Amino acid sequence: MSKILVTSALPYANGDIHIGHLVEYIQSDIFVRFLKSVGEDAVYMCASDTHGTPIEINARKQGISPEEMVARFNDAHFRDFSGFQINFDRFYTTHSDETRIHAENIFNKLKEKDLIEVKDVDQFYCDHDQRFLPDRFVRGICPRCNALDQYGDSCEKCGATYEPLDIKEPRCSICSNTPVVKTSRHYFVILEKCRPVIEEWVKQKEHLADDVRSWLEKNFLSGELRPWDISRDAPYFGFRIPGEENKYFYVWMDAPVGYIGTTQKFCDENKLDFSSYWDQNSDSVIYHIIGKDITYFHTLFWPAMLNYGGYRMPSRVHIHGFLTVNGEKMSKSRGTSVKAKTYLEHLDPQYLRFYYASKLGPTMDDIDLNLEEFRLRVNAELINKITNLASRSMGIINKKLDSVTGIPDEGCREIVADALSRVENIKNYYRSFEFSKAVREICIIAENANRYLQDTEPFRYTVSDPEKARSIITSALGLLKGIAILLGPVIPVFKMKVEKMLGASRVWDFSDLDFMLESGIKLGEFERLAERVEEDKVNAIIAQTATEAALQAAPTVELPPLREEITYDDFAKLDLRAGKIIEAEEVKGAGKLLRLTVDIGIGKRNVFAGIKAHFNPADLIGKTVIVCANLAPRKMKFGVSEAMVLACEDPEGHLGLLIPTFGDKTFHPGSQVS
Ligand code: 2FM
Ligand code: ZN
Repeated sequence: MSKILVTSALPYANGDIHIGHLVEYIQSDIFVRFLKSVGEDAVYMCASDTHGTPIEINARKQGISPEEMVARFNDAHFRDFSGFQINFDRFYTTHSDETRIHAENIFNKLKEKDLIEVKDVDQFYCDHDQRFLPDRFVRGICPRCNALDQYGDSCEKCGATYEPLDIKEPRCSICSNTPVVKTSRHYFVILEKCRPVIEEWVKQKEHLADDVRSWLEKNFLSGELRPWDISRDAPYFGFRIPGEENKYFYVWMDAPVGYIGTTQKFCDENKLDFSSYWDQNSDSVIYHIIGKDITYFHTLFWPAMLNYGGYRMPSRVHIHGFLTVNGEKMSKSRGTSVKAKTYLEHLDPQYLRFYYASKLGPTMDDIDLNLEEFRLRVNAELINKITNLASRSMGIINKKLDSVTGIPDEGCREIVADALSRVENIKNYYRSFEFSKAVREICIIAENANRYLQDTEPFRYTVSDPEKARSIITSALGLLKGIAILLGPVIPVFKMKVEKMLGASRVWDFSDLDFMLESGIKLGEFERLAERVEEDKVNAIIAQTATEAALQAAPTVELPPLREEITYDDFAKLDLRAGKIIEAEEVKGAGKLLRLTVDIGIGKRNVFAGIKAHFNPADLIGKTVIVCANLAPRKMKFGVSEAMVLACEDPEGHLGLLIPTFGDKTFHPGSQVS
């Protein structure tokens, strides 16, 4: 039997696991549990993704070593995943000898095959922080649409991607200083030389969904495959490049190698044959389950690295969409970016597993967690249809029929036949990641079982014809057993509880699926399988998340000390007015200044404000702001400044103007602040 290896994307050891991440881990776990329950030799590998600049910088900010931070998150993530019943065969770390050895091996093989080139590149460098600034650590103005405060490699406003040096007015995102340009030697994988291997892998139908293949062909394979920069300069947290003092592998070079390193660790610990998973000539089946944002890394570089490194290439990269909550992007302040840990304090993880399964399909479409639908669906299907089937049947047999099963009821034959006829489809749905269809089919079996119980009214015969009642209940419980097996990959604890009640003496798996119970079995005590989801529990999760976000947003950085106390009379000397900006323009040669004309009701004022790095002049026109209107005019090189626009600056150097409002209206120019 071929070995099956399943992986999920390795989570960065740099932040908490939230319900968005869980879409992937729950999905993968369901898939692996399904494979195992049909007797496949499947394992599920995952690890913390530990390297890179953000982890190094965050650890420094917290005054701990990156190793310590990684260890803390590794523990926390493992706890969260276990809480959600995600059952890795091994959850390891990329900061390990195993991963380092395989990463170096791949690098050396690429070098031997002349697939690596070394080139000088110009990059931004911050003299203050004494480091090169990777893309995400430079911010500035988008060279295409002039949106302010964008990342060094892409604009969130217009979607443009650009070379880091193209960004206008760059700033170091750590200290806000203007970086300089410096040259550094970098290692590149010459991807164009790998093209035949990549194209061949992408072409194979079973490797990717059709829409992913066309996306790759259109956006990458149709043009030149640009060399891939796999090195970063110190300071960096990662693996040193062999033969170099101050250069490290870029995190994306060693992160996927973590899949291999983790398998190595797992095999060493369990005395298993590593080569049966990763050897190029093995017949293993390797599934990578990932989100659509990291498609590029897993479908272009990764197959090439594996091939030239002598490893087995993926059999399938399954790509899913993102999670939205109530139709919108998750938001900390709205309380919808719920941490795994917060959810677990209030609700049974199986509800989310069930709900996600009921929404998941094989495509890259985003899935929406609608909180109202979540509650209603779990209550309607998991509780009313499935859990109540157990409580009603067990209630009667435990209380009135000595907890002993009877001969299955003939009248249930058709329902059982119908259930059996759905099993093959359900298996195929699980196999092809069409979980929503699998859940739908299982719910139909549950609906039929409930209708059967309702129509046959076994409670009426417990005294007059107890054997008849026993037969009916035995059949209903047989259906419940089948349902629990079928839903086992989705809600494993539920399945275990059913198993315990129905007194199964052997392991339940898909081969045991006859929807029958033997007669004469003494059943266990009834155990409530799940409770209804109450609205206040869901609300509590959202409220807790919003509160945590608000607390976290409070600055922990050093604030300027309070200025000297003033009297009310001192304060009253300020004449602060609402003023409407009617003109705004850059001033040639004036560095940070914008020139504004502000209508303050009683006249117009010319204002020079040092806000150019923060605002587009066009965006300011029409805004009503607060100005200090009686500040003595100040003669400047470019003209006289006759008032001052009030602004607020946060500790990270973000600037906002004070804009007075009432409801959705603003104030008439000249309105006085008092
Ligand atoms: O995007 C991410 O969260 C990465 N940490 C995923 C890495 S997946 C694999 F390649 F390691
Ligand atoms: Zn800096």
